Amino acid sequence: TPVRFDAVDTMRACIRAWKAAGDRVVLVPTMGALHQGHLSLVSRARELGERVVVSIFVNPTQFGPSEDFSRYPRDTEADLALLSEAGVDAAYCPTVETMYPADFSTSLTVAGISEGLCGAFRPGHFSGVATVVTKLVNQVQPDTALFGEKDFQQLQVIRRAVRDLDIPVAIGGVPTLREEDGLALSSRNRYLDADERRIAPLLHRELVTIAEGLRAGNAASALVSASTERLIEAGFSTVQYLSVCDADTLAPVEHATGPTRILVAAYLGSTRLIDNVAV
Ligand code: PAJ
Repeated sequence: TPVRFDAVDTMRACIRAWKAAGDRVVLVPTMGALHQGHLSLVSRARELGERVVVSIFVNPTQFGPSEDFSRYPRDTEADLALLSEAGVDAAYCPTVETMYPADFSTSLTVAGISEGLCGAFRPGHFSGVATVVTKLVNQVQPDTALFGEKDFQQLQVIRRAVRDLDIPVAIGGVPTLREEDGLALSSRNRYLDADERRIAPLLHRELVTIAEGLRAGNAASALVSASTERLIEAGFSTVQYLSVCDADTLAPVEHATGPTRILVAAYLGSTRLIDNVAV
């Protein structure tokens, strides 16, 4: 069973002792509602270090006013049971008051790379993410922090912030864990009803179709329009973006000449799904 901490000082004392004993510490930041996708990050963390710390904190500052902060699934006891099975050493579960005291005044903006894709539809979201991840990394002071490629823009925003601010931590990306039918595992999949769940895997299939088209030399814009039409036809209500991008800068590209990523966000009923694949 992981040691559970909610205060910074006791958690830090424990981690300082681990590091003094020569153990490498790997942090996996999460918002709880843990599933196998999160646990694949934990498995990778166990390969990279002797001590694994998972943080569970539903970060209010990364949710917009009309988003699902209050109904975001929370079940700390179930999460801790999963972490115990997965051999996690510590669970860090700070309160909102610990993270954001009443006079909290600072936030981190990562220009450019945060502004397109999800950033265009979720103003302030990546500032919230960058700020809380910086705090978690400063609190835990791990050797490595791991993030899923599922949230590819988030991963690239964090890489950029850590590089720009010389934060002494290694950032690792972990491939997306998917259901048999291709749907990326997500805490939000539980919002889907049976019909929506049946339609949802088309999102990944269209990404794969676009990747194949790009590899065959076709232009992004034509592939994207055809896929968008099929998504809408199948029952997706809105495609917020479906973009072919440079994998490092996330700037849009028309042909896959260098490292390229295809990213999508679309609504299925009231559930917003995101996914991405490499070309
Ligand atoms: P959360 O959505 O709980 O995700 C925690 C981590 O698990 C993220 O790095 C995410 O990319 C990864 N993850 C989620 N589903 C995955 C899947 N199917 N395969 C692989 N990895 C997956 O992302 C956040 O929390 C927050 O924004 C956070 C970084 C904790 C900051 O609050």
